[in-house]
This record gives sequence, C-alpha cells and structure tokens, in this order.
Amino acid sequence: MSAAEPAARAEALRRQLDHHNYCYYVLDEPEIPDAEYDRLLRELQQLEETHPELVTPDSPTQRVGARPLERFDEVAHRIPMLSLDNAFSEQELEDFDRRVRERLKKAAAKVVYSAEPKLDGLAISLRYEAGRLVQGATRGDGRHGEDVTQNVRTIPSIPLRLMGEGWPEVLEVRGEIFMPRAGFETLNSVQRERGEKTFVNPRNAAAGSLRQLDPRITAQRPLAFFCYGTGEVVGHPMSATHSGNMALVREWGLPVSSELAACDGIAACHRYYDRMGGRRDKLDYDIDGVVFKVDDLAQQQQLGFVARAPRWAIARKFPAQEEMTRVEDVEFQVGRTGALTPVARLEPIFVGGVTVSNATLHNMDEIERKDVRIGDSVIVRRAGDVIPEVVSVVRERRPPDTHAVQLPAHCPVCGSAVIRPEGEAVARCSGGLYCQAQRKEAIKHFASRKAMDIEGLGDKLVEQLVDQGLVGSPADLYALRQEQIAALERMGEKSAANLVAALEASKETTLGRFLFALGILGIGETMANTLARDLGSLDAIESLTLSDLIGVSASQAVKLHARLSDLDEDGQTPLGRVLPPADLKWCRHVHLLMLEERFATLAAIQAAQPEELANDPRVRIEGVGEVLSEKIVTFFRQPHNREVIDGLVNAGVHWPDPRPARAGAQPLEGLTFVLTGKLEQPRDHYKELLLAHGAKVVGSVSKNTDYVVAGEAAGSKLKKAQELGVAVIDEQALLKLLEKQG
Ligand code: IVH
Repeated sequence: MSAAEPAARAEALRRQLDHHNYCYYVLDEPEIPDAEYDRLLRELQQLEETHPELVTPDSPTQRVGARPLERFDEVAHRIPMLSLDNAFSEQELEDFDRRVRERLKKAAAKVVYSAEPKLDGLAISLRYEAGRLVQGATRGDGRHGEDVTQNVRTIPSIPLRLMGEGWPEVLEVRGEIFMPRAGFETLNSVQRERGEKTFVNPRNAAAGSLRQLDPRITAQRPLAFFCYGTGEVVGHPMSATHSGNMALVREWGLPVSSELAACDGIAACHRYYDRMGGRRDKLDYDIDGVVFKVDDLAQQQQLGFVARAPRWAIARKFPAQEEMTRVEDVEFQVGRTGALTPVARLEPIFVGGVTVSNATLHNMDEIERKDVRIGDSVIVRRAGDVIPEVVSVVRERRPPDTHAVQLPAHCPVCGSAVIRPEGEAVARCSGGLYCQAQRKEAIKHFASRKAMDIEGLGDKLVEQLVDQGLVGSPADLYALRQEQIAALERMGEKSAANLVAALEASKETTLGRFLFALGILGIGETMANTLARDLGSLDAIESLTLSDLIGVSASQAVKLHARLSDLDEDGQTPLGRVLPPADLKWCRHVHLLMLEERFATLAAIQAAQPEELANDPRVRIEGVGEVLSEKIVTFFRQPHNREVIDGLVNAGVHWPDPRPARAGAQPLEGLTFVLTGKLEQPRDHYKELLLAHGAKVVGSVSKNTDYVVAGEAAGSKLKKAQELGVAVIDEQALLKLLEKQG
C-alpha cells in the first residue's frame, strides 16, 4: 500500500460500517450477516492499530474507550426538554383535539396529527455539530441535565456522525433511550445467575445503564434509541412538519420508530390508539401509550406551551404494566429439567391489559432477595408475552400475619426429595428418571450420543413415545416392539426395525456412559467416567453415603463437638435440623446431613468423642465436592430411580467391569498416591493400575499422602511433598512396586 492507501481504505471501511449500521438499526433491513460486519470492523481495527494516526474520534472502533468518570458534568439545555400531558380516556383525547382546534381558530376543520408510540425509557438530547456527535445529555429537570456523552457513544444505534447531506450546522435531536424486552430478560437472567440484584423493569435497567460512570459497563448493556423530536437547530432549515423532520433525521442515519404515522383528524387518532394497543404485546420493547403531536410546525408555534408541556401534544396512556396486589399463596412448579419454580398465587389484578392471578418468583434466592412473604402486597409486572412476575414487595403495606415461603421437601409432581445445594439458587427434584415433569428430557438425554447413543431416537420421536404413553422411563424403551414403533408418525417398517436394532446395540455400553445417561444433576460426561473408573461398579456407586464422600477434619471436629455440646436440644432432634452455627462457617448443611447419617440424633453426637466426628474418607474422588456428593447420594436414594436402574439392568444393559476383580486382598489397599510431572506412560494408565491394586489416587499432596510419583519437571506438588516429608518415588520405583504386588 502506498502512504495514501491505508487512509483511503480506513475511510472506505468506516463508510461501509456506517452504512451497514444504518441498514441494521434504522431501516431494520440488514444487507450482510453479522459475521461479515465483524470482519469489516476487525479489518478497520487492525488498520488503525498499525496506523494509529488514522484513528478518528467518530470511527466505529471508538465507541467504547473513554475512562470512568468521577461524576457527570451538568449541561444546560438551550431549548428546554418538556414533558407531556396525559389523556386517560377517549373523551380526554377528544377534549384535547377540541382545545387545539379552538386555539387554531379551525373549530370546523380537521387537524393532522403525527402519531407514534410512547416509548418507556428515558429522554435524551443528542447534539450534532458539523455532523459529528458532540454531546449526549439526560433530561434532568428539563433545563439542566447530565452530560452522558461517553455513554451514549456506546449505543450502537446512535450514529457518531450523520450520513448524507443537508443537515444543519447544529442539530439537536431528542429521543428515548430504552432497553428492548429481550435484552432486559437476558440481562436479568445473567444478574440472577450471578446472584446479583435484578432490575425491576426495562426502564429502570435503561436508566441504571446510562448513568454508569464507567462507559464499559454501559457498552455491555443492550440499549437502543429512537428519535422523536428536535431541539436546537442552527443553520440549514428543516421541514415544515414534524413528520417531515423525522423523515429527514432518518435519512441522516438516526433511528425513528417505524410506527410513526399521520392521522387526519381525531377519529384516525382513536383508530391508531386501538391498533397500537392490539400490537403492544408483540413489539419487542415496552410502550406505555401513544403520543399525538400537531404535525404542522407553524401550528405548533401558534399553540405554544403551558407550564412544562406543549399545548400541541398529548400522550394517551395504555393500561399500566405494573400493578399492586396481594400474594395469597406460593406454589411450586416443576420444569422439564426438574427445576422448582415458585409461583405466586395472586389476588386477581388487571395489569398490562389482562387479568393476572399467577406470577413467577423465579427461584428461592429471588424470594429471599426480594423478601417476599405470603400475605405481602407486591408489585406485579406483565409486559408483552413475558410471563408475569413479582418485581418487588411494598414493605410499608406488610400486614402482621405474613408467613415465609417454604421450599417443599418433596417434589409436588413425583414425591422425590427436593435438593437445593449450598450456594445454588435453583432447587430441583431428584427424581430425574421417574418424575413425570422431567420424563421427556430424561429420555432424550438418555438416548443422546454421549450417553447410550441410540441411533435414530431423536427428540421428536421421544416426544411421540411419551405422549402416546408407550414410554414412561428409559427402561421402557427396551420393551418397545417393532410394530408399536412402526405405527408412529413418520415411521415405517424399516425405520422401526432400525430403531429396534439400535436399542439392542446400545445395551452393550460402559459404566461411564451408563452413569452419564442416568442424568444425575451435575454429573457430566467426565465426572461419570471418573466415578466409573474410581469406584468400579454400579453397586459401589449406588451405595455411596455422604460420609464416604465428605471430610470433616480433626480440628473442625473439635470445634463442632464443642459447639454442638453446648446446644441444649431435646435429645431426639435430627441433626439435619440443627442450623449450622454461625461461627462454624465451614459447617454446611451437607456436613450436618453427613453427621446425621452416622449419628442420627444430637444426643448421640453429644455423647461421641471429637475424634469420632472426624471423618477419614474411605473414598476420595477427584472433583467430587460437597455439592456433587449431595446430588449423587440423593439421586441413588430415590427408590424410583433405583427401580429404573434395575429395569435397565434386567432389560440387558451391561458393561465390562472397568476395574478387574482381583483375587484376595488388595495389595496397595489404603495407600494414597499423587502423580505429578511428565511420566513415560500416560498418567491415566498408572491411575488405573493403582486403582486396580486397591490404592487411591488423588490430585493434591497432603500429610495423608503416602507416595508422590514424580516425573520430569515436577513442580509445586513435588515441593509440597518434600516439605511435608512424604515419600517421593520415580516411575521405575512405581513399576517395581506394582510388579512386586502384582
Ligand atoms: S415528545 C415536547 N414523543 O415521554 C414533547 N415523548 O411523558 C416532548 N416519550 O420526557 C416529548 N416517547 O421521554 C415524545 N414518541 C415520543 C415519546 C416521548 C416517549 C417520553 C419522553 C418525555 C416523556 C413525557
């Protein structure tokens, strides 16, 4: 490239990117796929990196970049930002029209109104000088707002420079910044997953996002913008009508609602209102009404203002999307994956245009965070097709007789135990294979490629089989007859025969696949294989207890013993019900369950010696922590799950024993090994050999480790072994040890 070429290329790329942005955000008709847009943007980024002198402030690469502010500066609005009067009925809109005609001395004629949705976000003023975005300011009190320029620059639908030609030297446009519903839902589910506070509605989310001092946070929020008017205009004249102005700014690259329409007279305004009301739920953003503006700007001028609102515009409101009502009860629904969702039964309330009597509370964490109690007055939101939700509690209205929401101990659908592991927001039914609510998902997972790999058993077929009552659990699959399958939709003799053959073939599997196929919560493919390898048999896995899996150290045991001895409970109290004492932070619900498993009552534990409380785990499996232990143990404790497993085994599902049975005592029984560094043979090879000899293989070195097998370039584990005085051997010594034992 010659010296001029990179500059020309950079400018060409910027033009293309601006154009595609315009097609995407303003015309809503993208010409290229997103991936192509990203490629162009990357090319520009690379070019600017090699030629930093080519970077311009309005390059599409420069949307985010400014550093966090200490505070926002104040901006004086040269033309005040007004608000709107509201009309709540057809009559009030008629009255508005009559006043307009009277003032215009056109009592007998029709006035042309420009109609557009009233977006539910926050007002913004954008200032373009010589076609460049130089300032973005909030409405504030209408005369003074806050300078949020660096945040508005991150909003992709706001152009950093105007397109086309003929724009005034100074052009201020006014409009609404809002968060589309889909983006709001995603943002809130991310907040929920992270255990962070959710936003009450898209408007609050948009306002909170725009008022971030760090523009990088704003950049991550799905904000959008529609222009609905102008502010200061200097130079080049614009159109004589509001709708003409909006058409102009649209040509210059600013997004304008595609719903904007001219209404000739008030009857047309009523029709527009009704039509928008019908479409309200289908839009992908919240609107709270329709705004009617006298279209002719000379007439607007003639009408003028009263107080803080123009006489030439009015908002006709829709029914509110948030209302207050009372929580009568909370019930739990079981989803396809076993998740229990609390649902509030409400005193029926008209909200968002329909009567709502149920609203989701998402999960127990949300109930706790929002502090919702049965009997509370709450704010319910229903917007669009989204499920109505309880967004907050009106604390001032809490009556004295509310009660807390209790997570049921048993699944309301199948009666299996419900578990909600420490630190997890979602409670789940543990009846995976059996629970009606989860059947279809359980069977789809069972048949999937990495599980039992039943070829030809796709999602659609599973749905048919379950819907027709042919299959209730995975075990029923193996009882299917060819003619039953052939009779299903889109199946024939041949495909039925193929499926029967595939089912037969799937019976020969591995323990790892089988465990994965059972769909135990938290047991992915890798963990299923680890369990299969380390425990060797289904029997061993099925009979695991929490005390096998979870360790309480000696020092923890002393503290626990002292604390529990202090508790003066009735001797028969099950330990699981003794709340973990606050000063024993490590002592979680699972620890108490584990101790309960061994000691049953508080009295028994009080009588025990501290060392008896300490747990010397017989089984230690890499990666199995407390949370997973609880899930595994609970799954196998459900009689229904055991029934399904027995059914599968009886149907002929089998696997080779991954741990060859050895005659007599296990020679390395009770010894713990750690493998580290680079060994000649893969680590898994030695791991299997050691396991076959009865040894345990763990991932980290402690004083309980008997041998560290160190290969080349061993690092921190070797060092730790030396510090703790643990025996260190090399690969040769390990082979000798195994030979001697073998
Ligand atoms: S016109 C002088 N048009 O509603 C007229 N406002 O309740 C000023 N709003 O602060 C506003 N959509 O933030 C207008 N299509 C629309 C609107 C709209 C939403 C907001 C705006 C204003 C508030 C007044």
